[in-house]
Amino acid sequence: MESPDEPEAILRGQAHIWRQMFAFADSMALKCAVELRIPDIIHSYGGGPVTLAQIASRIPAPSPGTTYLARIMRLLVRNNIFSAQRCQPDGGHESQETLYGITPSSRWLLQGPGSELSLAPLVLMENHPWLMSPWHCFSDCIKTGGVAFEMAHGCKIWDFASANPEFNRLFNDGMAGTSKILVRAIVEGYKAGFKSIGSLVDVGGGIGVTLATIIKSFPHIQGINFDLPHVIATAPAHDGITHVGGDMFETIPHAEAVFMKGIMHDWGNEDCVKILRNCRKAIPEKNGKVIIVDVVLKPEGNGMFDEIGTVLDLVMMAHCSGGKERDELEWKNIVEKGGFPRYNIIKTSSLLFIIEAYPL
Ligand SMILES: C[S@@+](CC[C@H](N)C(=O)[O-])C[C@H]1O[C@@H](n2cnc3c(N)ncnc32)[C@H](O)[C@@H]1O
Repeated sequence: MESPDEPEAILRGQAHIWRQMFAFADSMALKCAVELRIPDIIHSYGGGPVTLAQIASRIPAPSPGTTYLARIMRLLVRNNIFSAQRCQPDGGHESQETLYGITPSSRWLLQGPGSELSLAPLVLMENHPWLMSPWHCFSDCIKTGGVAFEMAHGCKIWDFASANPEFNRLFNDGMAGTSKILVRAIVEGYKAGFKSIGSLVDVGGGIGVTLATIIKSFPHIQGINFDLPHVIATAPAHDGITHVGGDMFETIPHAEAVFMKGIMHDWGNEDCVKILRNCRKAIPEKNGKVIIVDVVLKPEGNGMFDEIGTVLDLVMMAHCSGGKERDELEWKNIVEKGGFPRYNIIKTSSLLFIIEAYPL
């Protein structure tokens, strides 16, 4: 193994710091491409190959700056967001022209009709200055124990959203778009589990979109969508679903199984244990179960989504009050304290895992 004192290793270390220092350039170039809908533009030409001039011609501006655009595209090509190939224009001039194309990554950034599963709204949301500013507060959080979002904005994220309709829309669009992608993976990855359930309560289910998707695939399930009363007040009617307003820290409606997606990672350990104890009271002792859908951190893992898990943990630190992502041992501890001695972890084809927890 190379010694860390070798000149080559030291130089590589310096190069690494340069890259890390400007890691935000990747996000900003990505955000720019989404704002200008460059993936959609290339897609409108059949996915490429297209010239820079063809892309520029569909950017809604009187004279788009093609030299700026070329520089943004160069980084995005290097990051495999777009493909590039060089060709001789008109079959033989000396200078070469770059032709761009869609890659498996840019397919997830399409926003046009038919691109139902898109991460584009989340790219716009997470990279908005409103959600970026709390990231600048981490060292103060460590020194004082404060909450990053509150330090940056003077209030919790939910209060900020209710006072700021533009942020509310940005946030809800980001969440809704991502949810569609993730729920599809959950339905695919938990077919046998859903088939064996007669009734299901989605705790913190928002306006019921996740449960409606599940019930569309498993219409035999009687669904209860449970959330805070002000959320339920805005929930549209869905076939097979009863909406119930309430507080999960007080009581949870009874069903054969409880489903909770993206709930536990919003809360600290003590609150999670309180929620789980209420879940236990809501399900049958003998054959009931709780289905937790969240990240299971594998900080050393080589899986496709393992690295993003550790990043998402910091997203929780930036945006939530007490929320965190957990590794298996942390899950085991809170699930056991919550009254579930037996659990089973199922990986889905997404960054989320299903943790089935049993009362016996
Ligand atoms: C991050 S969202 C998750 C929504 C949904 N499960 C999903 O994955 O898209 C958290 C949800 O928990 C709800 N919530 C927060 N506190 C609650 C409480 N005490 N009782 C019931 N629901 C609550 C919020 O209103 C919100 O809809």
